[in-house]
Amino acid sequence: MPARAELVPVARQSSTRLALRMADHYFAATPSSPSQPDAVQLHLADMQMTLLTDRGVFSGHRVDPGTMALLRECAPPPLEGNLLDLGCGYGPLACALAHRAPGAVVWAVDVNSRALELTAANAAALGLANVRAARPEEVPPETVFTGIWSNPPIRVGKAALHELLSAWMARLAPRASAWLVVNRHLGGDSLAAWLTDRGWQVRRAASKSGYRVLQVTR
Ligand SMILES: C[S@@+](CC[C@H](N)C(=O)[O-])C[C@H]1O[C@@H](n2cnc3c(N)ncnc32)[C@H](O)[C@@H]1O
Repeated sequence: MPARAELVPVARQSSTRLALRMADHYFAATPSSPSQPDAVQLHLADMQMTLLTDRGVFSGHRVDPGTMALLRECAPPPLEGNLLDLGCGYGPLACALAHRAPGAVVWAVDVNSRALELTAANAAALGLANVRAARPEEVPPETVFTGIWSNPPIRVGKAALHELLSAWMARLAPRASAWLVVNRHLGGDSLAAWLTDRGWQVRRAASKSGYRVLQVTR
């Protein structure tokens, strides 16, 4: 991760207005680091996938341990409706959800163009036709989600993170859950407290290797 970040609002997105440009950061809209394709293995009890990665995307050298904890500890996704992977990166959550719920549409949303290209390529290579890799503004505004999964971009800062989560979680269907994973040292517990203060029911579904897996419902 770079020490210095360029914080520049680059676009007003219809849903979140949160696009930030950070030089060489994993959530740059267009990563400046030259492409260096790589691949990682996603091993879970119910699936085994090879996923293409690259420089300039989050955790391109291995599936992030927080993402692994989330995939191991979350409940099975609803088998239909629209699911959201908020901040999809190269697509480990989106591809796993699409595999588990082939009858659902999985919206894989990110602001990083390289991440979106990788997610689309990974889904295609795996035959997961139910993944839609999209920028935030490309998701039809009327879309309601029967579940949200996110290893959210903590590094955007607390205010931006709160705005991002508020905007997307407002689109959860009644009784649907958002499943979030946050490192305890990066504010997992304070995020849980913030959500609770805003009226969400927050259950700590698991606490593994410093990661909090949170199930959030209305
Ligand atoms: C911690 S990474 C998780 C990536 C991937 N889900 C994984 O588990 O490997 C967070 C992701 O959120 C994306 N992101 C940052 N700001 C965003 C925004 N405003 N809307 C959607 N995604 C965003 C970043 O580009 C990054 O890919």
